[in-house]
Amino acid sequence: MQAQVERLMAEMTLAEKIGQLNLLAAGEGLVTGAAQSTPLARRLDSGEVGAIFGTKSLASARAMQERALEGSRLRIPLFFAEDVIHGHRTVFPLPVALACSWDLDLVEDTAAFAAAEAASEGIHQVYAPMIDVSRDPRWGRIAESPGEDPLLASRFAVAATRGFQGGGIGEPDRVAACLKHFVAYGAPDSGRDYDNASLSWEDLLAIYLPPFTAGLQAGAASVMAAFNAVNKLPMHANAPLIQGWLRGTSGFNGLVVSDYTGVKELTPHGLGPAAVVVARALHAGIDMDMVGEDYLAELPALAETGLDAPEAGLSFGASRIREMIDTACRRVLTFKASLGLLDDPFHGMSGTAAPSRSDGRKLARRAAARSTVLLKNDNVLPIAQSTRVALVGPFARDRRNMLGTWAVSGNWDDVVPLDAAITALTGTAPATAWGVNITDRDWLAARLNVHGVTVETDPRSEDELIAEALDAARQSDIIIAALGEAKEHAGESSSALSPALPEAHLRLVRALKATGKPVAAIVFAGRPLALGDLPETADALLYAWHGGIAGPEGVADLLFGAAAPSGRLCVTLPAHPGETPVSHAEEPTGRPFPGRFAKFRTGWLDMPDGLTRYPFGFGLGYAPIRYGAPSLSSTVADVSQKVLLRLTIENTGQTEAIETVQLYASDPVARITRPARFLVDFKQLTLSPGEARELVFEIRADQFAYPVAPSLESAEWVRDPGLVQLHVGPNSRDTDTVELTWSS
Ligand code: NOJ
Repeated sequence: MQAQVERLMAEMTLAEKIGQLNLLAAGEGLVTGAAQSTPLARRLDSGEVGAIFGTKSLASARAMQERALEGSRLRIPLFFAEDVIHGHRTVFPLPVALACSWDLDLVEDTAAFAAAEAASEGIHQVYAPMIDVSRDPRWGRIAESPGEDPLLASRFAVAATRGFQGGGIGEPDRVAACLKHFVAYGAPDSGRDYDNASLSWEDLLAIYLPPFTAGLQAGAASVMAAFNAVNKLPMHANAPLIQGWLRGTSGFNGLVVSDYTGVKELTPHGLGPAAVVVARALHAGIDMDMVGEDYLAELPALAETGLDAPEAGLSFGASRIREMIDTACRRVLTFKASLGLLDDPFHGMSGTAAPSRSDGRKLARRAAARSTVLLKNDNVLPIAQSTRVALVGPFARDRRNMLGTWAVSGNWDDVVPLDAAITALTGTAPATAWGVNITDRDWLAARLNVHGVTVETDPRSEDELIAEALDAARQSDIIIAALGEAKEHAGESSSALSPALPEAHLRLVRALKATGKPVAAIVFAGRPLALGDLPETADALLYAWHGGIAGPEGVADLLFGAAAPSGRLCVTLPAHPGETPVSHAEEPTGRPFPGRFAKFRTGWLDMPDGLTRYPFGFGLGYAPIRYGAPSLSSTVADVSQKVLLRLTIENTGQTEAIETVQLYASDPVARITRPARFLVDFKQLTLSPGEARELVFEIRADQFAYPVAPSLESAEWVRDPGLVQLHVGPNSRDTDTVELTWSS
């Protein structure tokens, strides 16, 4: 394989090499309406494109490949990429939802299914998994994230990478994964998308980088750089993190692509004019330039003259630039060779059958049920099939929003809306009413248009809408309220100042509750929302996210007991929208100091009493689960020893249950302040009614290693002897503790 690459490298001209670094969007394709060649076609004719994303069909990908081969003197093929974030044609629940399943086989299965669907359309690489840990509900792209915890996100990264890539990226029904966004894109200052991340090197190493380490160890073939700066240096120019950490420390030798015009955007970041930022990006290790075409425009001259930019502290001779172009081009060609494209330019494009859509639907429905989190249930759920149901709320009949953000190849016609799902399951149509508009703020509805309008509104007044909802409620024994946010509320460039369920939705639920009938509320959302008084008002509460094509069917299965709830939050649900960033892994401070300064609180003066914060890892089922007391095989151990933590879990209910047993740890005395608790392991098990099972967790010293990093370069992972605590339980709050002392 490498020999093929070297043969090509030896024959290629400088212009041909630069062409390989150019990554374009398919856009309008090869011909416009007037049968004119598009700019893309002209680029292909002159061999100036290395890869294309967003082709939308096998036929268009093939046509582009044919055109590229004709335009390339050495017949170097393109590769094709796509944003397959939570499914391709078959749209699965949002990643933040899927991570709430804590079911790694399911994550792998959905990725494998998406890979097979994408591969059948000639796609070779997916811009996924997105593995940005995020603790900020204001950030709209938390929808695409596996949540707030580095361990859960790391396992998600491994499972998704395996699902996409299988045994190798050259296999016919697999694709290359692209870990993104490198790095700390999920930690923007103030929660504003694209904003810089200002954080300690320790946090970078312990929270944001581990999912990348895990994905790389699972063999991910490519990585995408993030738009943001980390500690002042924009990632597209971040040599210390890309060349230093990613390629150096982690030994990654695969392909690094820019994000959309990410190289060009270094100029508004303040890093200089086009020639300077191109040299900086290439030097930082960005192999391909997505859409901006600055490599194409600037590299020919830079390769002739070099660059002397004292204001940027940069100076490269022409030969150094040519060397860097060679390195990047070699990586692009190696990637193509691993995909099998150098042997067969139409590899994966001969129309391999797509996986069965009906299998996809089944998987999507199971995934939706497994991703939904039951937050409260005062003996309301599951609902008996014969119960008369009123279904109220703007998501009762909704299809479009159910797909969620970043479903570029999905079709909302594939969604079975909640009213139809309930009818199909129970044989009776619920009495349905709109109840409330998705947003009661017109200006917000208008802003959501940025990514296409799907926010339907009903022009009637709130009183009229509620009156109609109450009519429906009166004809029923139970009210299901389908609430939440539109898909455009979350996603790229959709940060929110106040991530809360709209007040109008809360007013509707209060009015429904006043009928005296039980209210089961469902929240369809793309981010963790502060729920106001909903946890107190509703009798049952399901957090269903945007669940994809079978989202509402998965919810209906839970409502009527065709499936048991097993989702556990992968993010903390804040009590108040101002409580951000938020996570279970808060660090202790010096106050309140026991006995003194008790009045100095670390919380907020204006936090209303009585609001519920749902902790990370939280979720209920239908069967009660009893946790036995945990015990350790040894309470003192040295670094070479493995200690076993045992406990018995028992299903004391009448129905099968899926339980996720979570193990957290604390390190009360360390060289630096550490999180008060952090997740170290979890296990998921299925228990039949009455079944008790012993679980064994292996405790190892390396689970307690942490970074001390005055700078990135001087970072050191250390661990200390002494006492640690292990907390085991059904979520990050409700745990039992045992203590262990490391003697070395
Ligand atoms: C911008 C997004 O940040 C990235 O996630 C995506 O893969 C690219 N655009 C390509 O669509």
